[in-house]
Amino acid sequence: MDLKFHVQTYGCQMNKHDSERVYGMLESMGAESVDSIEDADVVVFMTCCVREAADTRLFGQVASMKNLPVRTGSPLDQRLVAVGGCIGQRDGEKLFDDLPNLNVVFGTQNLSSLPALLMDAYGQGGKRAEVLEASSEFSSELPTDREHSWAAWLPITVGCDNFCTYCIVPHVRGRERSRSIEDIVKEAEGYVASGVREITLLGQNVNSYGRDLYGEPRFAEVLEAVAATGIERLRFATSHPKDLTDEVIALFGKLPCLMPYLHLPAQSGSNDVLKRMNRKYTVEHYRQLIDKVRAVRPDIALSTDIIVGFPGETAEDFEATFDLVSSVGYSQVFTFIYSKREGTPAAKWDDETPRSVIQERFDRLVEAVQKSAFDANQVDLGAEVEVLVEGTSKRDDSVLVGKSPKNQTVHAPIPEGICASDLIGNMVTVRVDEARTWYLRGTVTEVSEAVR
Ligand code: SAH
Ligand code: SF4
Ligand code: F3S
Repeated sequence: MDLKFHVQTYGCQMNKHDSERVYGMLESMGAESVDSIEDADVVVFMTCCVREAADTRLFGQVASMKNLPVRTGSPLDQRLVAVGGCIGQRDGEKLFDDLPNLNVVFGTQNLSSLPALLMDAYGQGGKRAEVLEASSEFSSELPTDREHSWAAWLPITVGCDNFCTYCIVPHVRGRERSRSIEDIVKEAEGYVASGVREITLLGQNVNSYGRDLYGEPRFAEVLEAVAATGIERLRFATSHPKDLTDEVIALFGKLPCLMPYLHLPAQSGSNDVLKRMNRKYTVEHYRQLIDKVRAVRPDIALSTDIIVGFPGETAEDFEATFDLVSSVGYSQVFTFIYSKREGTPAAKWDDETPRSVIQERFDRLVEAVQKSAFDANQVDLGAEVEVLVEGTSKRDDSVLVGKSPKNQTVHAPIPEGICASDLIGNMVTVRVDEARTWYLRGTVTEVSEAVR
């Protein structure tokens, strides 16, 4: 059967990883993925509800497909639409009320049911919803079609136990569950054997890895064990500052494969706000962590997440955040305006601060972020950096694009006589000639043997 499907993914890396499983499952049924909704017989939305904007977008997109004709040559007499991920988990079959053209709803705990749900819905010409409470199912046991052959995301935990008062994630992903170290290492070994060069360990809070299984966090051990598989580049996301241990910090100085990049979400620079966010650390503790990390790895690139306009944020609270962002020397800061999520404690807290004031704070912060990112990149002017090539520039296919160890985007003209497709997934050395806010540009000085 000539079945074509399209997957649209929103949200965090966990969702992107789940989408790779969706590709794997549908392809193993004989379906073929296509780039556009118009060309697809089955459309799967992997959704996110961490902020309101993501919600609204999904509803608009599904609704707009209502009058889209079935593809010429489609083996189905209707286009099947499925919503999975975090909105699926949160809303379940209620989604059918608002979206009449929706056929299947599934959640974060039952990815593996998608093929059966699609078939049932089609067979019955109708609708099927299945959302399960947190289970022990690890989607990693399902077939996968990874986005890049040379890079892999490897979930070590799912769910979250932290209940930050603004956050919906623990409500839609369930309690934190860890995979065994043996399982993780086995998956990592498989990747290394198949030529993967970069592994990113995933979890909402990788630092608390193992607490549920072993009674104490054992993330440092996971890092060492995965490094021992021989992987060239190792990264992880995300770290909660309250659980980042000295042991893990020390590994930045010990494991050559552990890339000098740490994403450490601060959320706010005000202790009062941090307390009401239930973050369980102070800004002083946070700064100490940064100092310790830099003592071990002075050249490390740091990034963070910041929420502006949390209920009750005063001008003074914001200044504290502004001060943190302006003084740490972050290479990247992901800034978010607080978004009220029903079902979280903060949703009940009133806030009189006018929207325009919050927007002003946000805009000021974004300016500071840009300056910080620009300054952080200047350090690398003239340096030679190892770049893992990801592809070519969208604007100019004679320019390669890849990532430095510090996770900077690097552009460089492809050397004469080398074919772009041979470079993808390989390492090149680039001398940095230009350092911009969001990328570096340079000249290739060396190409790995695999390419030559
Ligand atoms: N587990 C990770 C990521 C969680 S979601 C962590 O703890 O860092 C990614 C980011 O979205 C969060 O770090 C936070 O900055 C932001 N976020 C979460 N809920 C939000 C909300 N209700 N409004 C605005 N931003 C939010
Ligand atoms: Fe949300 Fe906090 Fe858990 Fe991160 S640690 S997912 S912000 S509850
Ligand atoms: Fe969004 Fe769900 Fe991730 S709400 S941020 S996709 S865990």
